[in-house]
Amino acid sequence: QKLEMELETIEKGGYDHFMIKEIFEQPRSIGDSMRGRLRADDVHLQLGGLSNYMDKLAEAERIVIVACGTSWHAGLVAEYLFEELARINVEVEYASEFRYRNPVIKENDIVIAISQSGETADTLAAIELAKSKGATIFGVCNVVGSSIARATHAGAYTHAGPEIGVASTKAFTAQVTVLTLIAIATAKRKGTISEETYRQLLIELENIPAKVEKMFENADKIKEIAFIFTYARNFIYLGRGLNFPVALEGALKLKEISYIHAEGYPAAEMKHGPIALIDEDMPVVFLATRDSSYEKIVSNIQEVKARKGRVIAIVTEGDTLIPGMVDFVIEVPNTHEILTPLVSVIPLQLLSYYIAVMRGRNVDQPRNLAKSVTVE
Ligand code: G6P
Repeated sequence: QKLEMELETIEKGGYDHFMIKEIFEQPRSIGDSMRGRLRADDVHLQLGGLSNYMDKLAEAERIVIVACGTSWHAGLVAEYLFEELARINVEVEYASEFRYRNPVIKENDIVIAISQSGETADTLAAIELAKSKGATIFGVCNVVGSSIARATHAGAYTHAGPEIGVASTKAFTAQVTVLTLIAIATAKRKGTISEETYRQLLIELENIPAKVEKMFENADKIKEIAFIFTYARNFIYLGRGLNFPVALEGALKLKEISYIHAEGYPAAEMKHGPIALIDEDMPVVFLATRDSSYEKIVSNIQEVKARKGRVIAIVTEGDTLIPGMVDFVIEVPNTHEILTPLVSVIPLQLLSYYIAVMRGRNVDQPRNLAKSVTVE
């Protein structure tokens, strides 16, 4: 028992929990997920595991993404990426729902299964179903040789390294990184992005690890915000576009480890329901980075402030408008709009971590949850 505890201390590498260690590992895990695949210098991008399938991808009329939990959120990010960059129609499915419907799957459909563990029972079953209908299946898995990785025709691994904390953090950003690479490579092959955008995206991607690293300088500020909201009973997370899945992921993180009820919503949908919940006791986290929906999100913030909600805004550094409107701001570095989720999710991971620690929760092993769900 004592030996086991000492081993665990060593494995945590000086951190209090695996989760915070894994959050801080993200500059490296994102970098590792690009290594050998991307070189901005000589404008090179290649995914070895998919190279035989690039034409198929470029010709695909439809991509169906199947996943569960946090991996499903990475799938929602990928939906925006493939549609925006490669102009391919994408559907993102909860594996558990997909497998029990009678889904319309055609032989030229591509199914992408996303799974950290590679062992999630529902995702595995969804793959088998799609395979039996003749689709081509790609995997985006973190565990080499896992059941899902073996069941797919091809794939690209995330290189996040072992993730121990039950709440997924570095696996999510690694998934988004790899899916971004696939989407960009497909767009290049199809000719749906300009040479200039292609080059720009590769450069910006290579800069992401350093930007994430720099964001950790904000950790103390996030801790202060966590302290103020430690005993909140509810939280709402709002975002638009690529930040909508990030809002869902932020809310999921908070639920999982702090047991605070939290909902993620597309910011514009707020007026169709959640706005009724807003009063001076309701913390609302806005993903309000400088992107194509900036003006819209600013008016959504005004709607919440008019109802006395307490707003925490994630903004792009240098923003001078939003800080004057809200209660708290957390800055993230500027990047290409397409890459926003890789930076905007980080403060949400930290916020949920600090709140859970302050509430005395078992952060790495939250009640009722399992790291990999191998039963349906
Ligand atoms: C469980 C884990 C989540 C994870 C989900 C999907 O619920 O607690 O963190 O996102 O399964 O797991 P997978 O290994 O397929 O990504």
